[in-house]
Amino acid sequence: MSTKAAASSRITGFYRLDRDERLQVVRAAAGLGPGDPALDGLDGDVDVALLDGFVENVIGAFPLPLGIAVNFQVDGRDLLVPMAVEESSVVAAASNMARLARNTGGFQTEVVEDLVIGQIQVLDVADGEAAAVAVASRREEIIEKANALDPTLVSFGGGCRDVECRIFSPEQTGAGTVLVVHLLVDPRDAMGANVVNTMAEALAPDVARWAGGRPGLRILSNLADRRRFRATCRIRPADLAIGDLPGPEVAQRIVEAARFAWYDSYRAATHNKGIMNGIDPVVVVTGNDWRAVEAGVHAYAARDGQYRSVSSWTIDDDGMLVGQLEVPLQVGIVGGVTRLHPTARFALRLLRVETAQDLARVLAAVGLAQNLGALRALGTEGIQKGHMRLHARNLELASDLSDEPPLKDDP
Ligand code: MEV
Repeated sequence: MSTKAAASSRITGFYRLDRDERLQVVRAAAGLGPGDPALDGLDGDVDVALLDGFVENVIGAFPLPLGIAVNFQVDGRDLLVPMAVEESSVVAAASNMARLARNTGGFQTEVVEDLVIGQIQVLDVADGEAAAVAVASRREEIIEKANALDPTLVSFGGGCRDVECRIFSPEQTGAGTVLVVHLLVDPRDAMGANVVNTMAEALAPDVARWAGGRPGLRILSNLADRRRFRATCRIRPADLAIGDLPGPEVAQRIVEAARFAWYDSYRAATHNKGIMNGIDPVVVVTGNDWRAVEAGVHAYAARDGQYRSVSSWTIDDDGMLVGQLEVPLQVGIVGGVTRLHPTARFALRLLRVETAQDLARVLAAVGLAQNLGALRALGTEGIQKGHMRLHARNLELASDLSDEPPLKDDP
């Protein structure tokens, strides 16, 4: 992250400011003068001609609200977090929980591992073990060939690091023996799909020949379990009190709620959805591929054969509530539309991230904050109270549209 000193993200009553006042705060945090072109996309008047270059058959743009979560401190740095999301309560809950976390130093994050996986499938292999040995014996050659395809990535310190083989028996495939070769690639600041897909496609004919089989699919795996990030926080129980409920009781209920999501997949899916309520809006606004991130997190959640929560909450010996989230995050700050979309450029600037890892660290922290907000509400007054208050505002807005003909299935 940028080492430049940042203004405090602890802002009281940000929601009471009008839009111009909020923009002033955000501009200052991003180090932008009034009228800076970096702010151009914020009115939603994105150049449709630019979007026309992103996908096919473009007829317009689909604006989402862009909110700012305040109070975040991640690895000792204050951050204003941009979130593009349509769901009410999300930005408010993230800001509130970040406020509680900053009482004890905010969120701490770690890069557990940072490699993307490119898969090469080899079909009709006569002897799986022999094929794996043959491919493994070419490890150096494979790495060298892969890296020759992307000298720029290598010059930035990235590139193919390792090769792994997995064997699938005829019983598993329902056909012949299949060898799946994984290229493990350090993509530096890219999301990594283009890098590994190029490598996997180029290497597949050689790999298949060495394995004595036929090349099949060559593609990135979205089960990015070798690109994992961890966020933790410690919350003072007293800060969790709600109404008449004392903080330690609330902390205990959060722990019970987290256990529920560990042993019951039905609950885990909702629990993890709440975590993605925090992660996705930041992935979206930074121009990243949220489907890849979603696929990765949910596949990782099922890694031991049962779908489980990707976060845990416990109470430590000092009575503090300790939260931990560990998830795969395939995001980049170069490539795709991250540098092309004006709002994505602005978001990356506001977050002051200098590497893809910096961005992933923020995502993990926001996911954990969001999870805490949901569990605290669910374990106490329920989510409907706060949710419905905000929802009522949406209904009011909707009633302004009541002159319009109802949709076909509207009651
Ligand atoms: C709603 O968008 C998210 C929650 O359902 C998450 C959860 O249940 O943990 C509140």
